[in-house]
Amino acid sequence: MKAVIWTKYGSPDGLQLQEIEKPAPKDNEVLVKIHATTVTAGDCEMRTLKLPLFLGFPMRIYTGISKPTRIQIIGQEFAGEIEATGPAVKRFKAGDQVFGMTGLFKGTYAEYICLPDEPGDMDGALAIKPANMTYDEAAAVPLGGLEALHFLRQGDIQRGQTVLINGAGGSIGTIGVQLARYYGAEVTAVDSTGKLDMLRSLGAAHVVDYTQEDFTKRGQTYDVIFDVVNKSSYSGCMRSLTPNGRYLVGNPTLRKMIRGRWTSAMGSRKVVTGTSSPKAEDLIFLRELIEAGTIHTVIDRRYPLEEMVEAHRYVETGNKKGNVVITVA
Ligand SMILES: NC(=O)c1ccc[n+]([C@@H]2O[C@H](COP(=O)([O-])OP(=O)(O)OC[C@H]3O[C@@H](n4cnc5c(N)ncnc54)[C@H](OP(=O)(O)O)[C@@H]3O)[C@@H](O)[C@H]2O)c1
Repeated sequence: MKAVIWTKYGSPDGLQLQEIEKPAPKDNEVLVKIHATTVTAGDCEMRTLKLPLFLGFPMRIYTGISKPTRIQIIGQEFAGEIEATGPAVKRFKAGDQVFGMTGLFKGTYAEYICLPDEPGDMDGALAIKPANMTYDEAAAVPLGGLEALHFLRQGDIQRGQTVLINGAGGSIGTIGVQLARYYGAEVTAVDSTGKLDMLRSLGAAHVVDYTQEDFTKRGQTYDVIFDVVNKSSYSGCMRSLTPNGRYLVGNPTLRKMIRGRWTSAMGSRKVVTGTSSPKAEDLIFLRELIEAGTIHTVIDRRYPLEEMVEAHRYVETGNKKGNVVITVA
């Protein structure tokens, strides 16, 4: 099968299209023919290992000190069709159209992948694809959708509350805006100039251009601030929260995690950090919202698998609106 192999840390040129052996499912695994995957900011951070120190260092120890050896293929989300199943598989059968997310150690930049029928936390999550989405659209749901759901649930949003999402124009934020609307919030979306119209079209009542204005200096308060990119100032966000407000920090630094614990323990404001662990039941919940017309995916560009290097270069510009999809089959 064709796969894009991760041969070195650093520039996208280290991603090379190669012919490798097609995997065969174990007893409890399904073999998925991947139709579409994506290139996310997280994939670029993995490729370069530009991660917070507390993640980057152990990751390098695991993957290989000077070049990646233990992980051959990166890429985290996909949509495709089940081609074969191991004898112990119960939830799926050949021909099922699925979407999902892998764990850190299996990549989706390939024509096929094997995943456990009922993945554990480190193995990702798999579910039947939304019937009203193409493979391209469905492939762009799991990472952003699961991450946004994980954080916004902890925001405990009540109907009519105000929610600000910082970094709203990417994979996580575009679904985050729609989920916050679903929970009944009045949403303020923060991102760069070219993404604001798109954010309004997704349901944001207000938009802030971070290149022109710091939202923490507007004198407004919010019930929930979800900082997807962790680019907001901690003290500024504390000032911009209502007395019982919640600050949800995606991609947190160790320092912010420690400050967050202190704030949550000492006062009425709560700080939520950490990462999601993918679960099939959450994918199924997202699928129901998609089939009800509540959530749509935003696709900026599509590239064939052969143009993975160009796709990575584009995602690295930061100009991506929503998602960049790789069509595989
Ligand atoms: N498993 C994973 O891979 C995973 C899971 C969860 C979270 N994360 C991490 O979470 C972060 C966000 O993920 P994502 O996929 O949503 O990224 P993304 O698609 O790149 O979206 C991030 C958005 O934030 C905007 N932005 C950049 N700087 C900003 C600032 N100072 N203020 C406000 N907005 C700003 C970007 O727009 P401009 O570039 O136009 O400024 C972009 O629209 C990434 O660092 C990612 O690694 C990763």
